[in-house]
Amino acid sequence: MAKALIVYATRTGETQTIGDLIAEGIRISGHEAKVVADKSIKKEADLEGYDAYVFGSATYHGEMMQSMKTLLFLAEKVNLVGKVGGAFGAYGWSGEAPGRIYGTMENIFRMTMVGEPLMLKSSALGGGIQMAQEYGRQVAKQMEAAE
Ligand SMILES: Cc1cc2nc3c(=O)[nH]c(=O)nc-3n(C[C@H](O)[C@H](O)[C@H](O)COP(=O)(O)O)c2cc1C
Repeated sequence: MAKALIVYATRTGETQTIGDLIAEGIRISGHEAKVVADKSIKKEADLEGYDAYVFGSATYHGEMMQSMKTLLFLAEKVNLVGKVGGAFGAYGWSGEAPGRIYGTMENIFRMTMVGEPLMLKSSALGGGIQMAQEYGRQVAKQMEAAE
């Protein structure tokens, strides 16, 4: 059984909900998934020991949240080369955050990324439930391929 860590940055909870749904998709596929707030990751050791990492942030003022930027600088110190990666986030209209996170994971951390970042409008969460769970299934498949 493989293990995924899902870390979210949120202000009003929508991005956390998406993270929980991604975790459901991973668990449905028979793997472990832990979901935590970015602020609860304090040191490098908190990021070590997982097969996949899925980082998410809401977009505010065209950017990811500051706490997710801090997390990415911490993650830079951990060797994530070749680990499975994904990115997600709730947004209103432009949704820059998931793409920025995804780009960092791919280009700086050199992770094996799932198809593309998952962006969901908060108002679309109804229809987005399946999309978020499906994203979790994709993460699970990538982990299985890496085993
Ligand atoms: C002050 C403010 C600024 C925002 N700026 C953006 C933005 O630049 N682009 C965007 O796509 N959404 C923007 N949003 C919408 C949020 O991304 C959206 O409400 C999202 O669901 C919040 O997710 P959260 O509950 O995880 O914090 C903004 C919302 C607020 C309140």
